[in-house]
Amino acid sequence: MVTILGIESSCDDTSAAIIQDEYVMSNIISSQDVHKAYGGVVPELASRAHQQNIIPVVDLAIKKAGISKNDINAIAFTKGPGLLGSLMVGLSFAKGFALAQNIPLIEVNHLQGHILSQFIKEKNKENSSPEFPFLCLLVSGGHTQLVIVKSYLEMEIIGQTIDDAAGEAFDKCAKVIGLPYPGGPLIDNLAKKGNPDSFKFSKPKIDNFNYSFSGLKTSFLYFIRDNYAIDKQFVEKNKNDLCASLQKTIIDILLEKLIFASNKTNIKNITIAGGVAANSGLRNALCTESEKHCWKINLPELKYTTDNAAMIAITAYYKYLEKQFANLDVSPKARLKI
Ligand code: KG4
Ligand code: ZN
Repeated sequence: MVTILGIESSCDDTSAAIIQDEYVMSNIISSQDVHKAYGGVVPELASRAHQQNIIPVVDLAIKKAGISKNDINAIAFTKGPGLLGSLMVGLSFAKGFALAQNIPLIEVNHLQGHILSQFIKEKNKENSSPEFPFLCLLVSGGHTQLVIVKSYLEMEIIGQTIDDAAGEAFDKCAKVIGLPYPGGPLIDNLAKKGNPDSFKFSKPKIDNFNYSFSGLKTSFLYFIRDNYAIDKQFVEKNKNDLCASLQKTIIDILLEKLIFASNKTNIKNITIAGGVAANSGLRNALCTESEKHCWKINLPELKYTTDNAAMIAITAYYKYLEKQFANLDVSPKARLKI
């Protein structure tokens, strides 16, 4: 049996997880509330919070898994992409732990982690995972990509956003209507009570499998500004309908390219990953589309959609099997491709 300790610290969640083979034994996440007041993640504050949280979070992950630190065969960390100062905390901890325990160090690409989160298994549960090759729509706060996943460690990006990410569109539009950061989950909840056809927002015309969300953000901002000038209560009166209409537009944009990509590549195994994959509207729309296009879809467990260390540990597990270890002089990368 292979036991791996995974560390994730790329943005504003400090997380540690223990995986034994493909089974998650613990997955501790400490989210940083400090950023709420600023309407977005403040990098300097994130690094400091990681520094405070990392030891207690790792300690709890080991205890909850019911193992000793001497049972751990390798330690994995997120190399990037992410905030440099935040990545540095996780990486430095991992190097120290690897040296102290004399075990291998494994670097993990955060985006690859999101995609492979579909393979995390839980004991005493029926687990489902996609078959290779599959198309993954990776939608997070920092990325929006269409990826062909050929095997655990072989992935090809066929399309991506040329400006904002889908999560960023949710968060920035949420801010415009006075919702706190991160606004994505709040829009999701309010949208459930609204009419998605109340308002129309502009959709981009972008070539190939690429995305763009900055035009939508601007169109939403101007729409709110113009209506606010006429009625100061406009947002309050229409909040649910605004959220439902915005969410529908984002989902339509995401699905249009996913359908196009599936048709062009003839891949019908479809998955989603990343924080926005928690969106209930997107999950429902995917189920509807799967019937129309005979797709075999795999929806990740909600708890593994947003940032977590179990996804880092599972990716490291497959790298461990291939003996893909990192050197002790490895450094974090703010920008890193799959
Ligand atoms: O993957 P993630 O935790 O962090 C990054 O790697 O970026 O994704 C965070 C993003 C945020 O933009 C957040 O608003 C969005 O995921 N998000 C959602 C939902 N839950 C999280 N967006 C829409 N609906 C949700 N339910
Ligand atoms: Zn992420």
